[in-house]
Amino acid sequence: MIPKIDLHRHLDGNIRIQTILELADRNAIVLPANDVEGLRPHVTITTPHPGLVSFLGKFRWPMAVLATPEDCGRVAYENVEDAKSERLDYVELRFSPWFMAAAHRLDPAAVVEAVADGIARGVKEFGVQVGLIGILSRTFGAAVCFQELEALLTFRETLSGLDLAGDEAGFPARMFKRHFQIARDAGLRITAHAGEAAGAESIRDAIKILGATRIGHGVRAMDDPALMDELAEGGIGIECCLTSNVQTSTIPSYAAHPLRVFLERGLLATINTDDPGISNITLDHEFEIAAPQAGLTPAHLTQAKANAAQIAWGL
Ligand code: ADE
Ligand code: ZN
Repeated sequence: MIPKIDLHRHLDGNIRIQTILELADRNAIVLPANDVEGLRPHVTITTPHPGLVSFLGKFRWPMAVLATPEDCGRVAYENVEDAKSERLDYVELRFSPWFMAAAHRLDPAAVVEAVADGIARGVKEFGVQVGLIGILSRTFGAAVCFQELEALLTFRETLSGLDLAGDEAGFPARMFKRHFQIARDAGLRITAHAGEAAGAESIRDAIKILGATRIGHGVRAMDDPALMDELAEGGIGIECCLTSNVQTSTIPSYAAHPLRVFLERGLLATINTDDPGISNITLDHEFEIAAPQAGLTPAHLTQAKANAAQIAWGL
């Protein structure tokens, strides 16, 4: 049996609606609704958004209720419990400490410590294997990202790798060259969101400038056959997220997604959730509903699972 794996899951994009309500109550934060069904449309995607930045607007309330490092630790712990409920064997959870800290100006290092502690407690209790990936949120700019990196490196031993997320079109990889050099020197492996909100060149930059050995999304490689060949030959892992890509209007429909082409050309492409809470999905949804609509056969699904086991950092 190939293990059940999700390699691209933002723990800050996967906060239970019930938890948002409880944290708001405890932290005296006024939400636009006070019950799960009332709040759902405010914190999940119901129809496709015009682009990534609009999609990211759905993080407003989930981030607004994080008022202490302990709140961040709870979210991390519950992510491990949710991975267990989904019967995942292994999950790589990623998070941006600055993004989680921003609304209440928390100390980002305290957020990293609390998240790592929540993960450790969850692993002990639920027995799921977890890899933790730190994120630099490019939308905050290069200077803030140095501070975010410093907070992450304070707890270097808890991390398997570093990612670059946020507004890809507005904040290109070249702005973060030095950050990723420092991270690689510290022994971190690199993945980066690329080819989601910007073109194929952004994928090349993630590899050449940042040293990425995996790419989050990578959709726009579909426009560049030579790049697809390079990704296959270079053994670059591709973390595809089907529903997220429809919801951000990166692609117009599941049927238009290049995942099937990637698999048939020998790219190490995988199936992942991205932000399951925001997207209102599970990994099973992606395999059972989204992937077939993207034209994948059972053989493709098996290949995607084998690829995930091959490119996972913690297995
Ligand atoms: N942060 C959370 N989800 C993201 C995505 N799909 N792209 C970039 N940054 C993100
Ligand atoms: Zn992502």
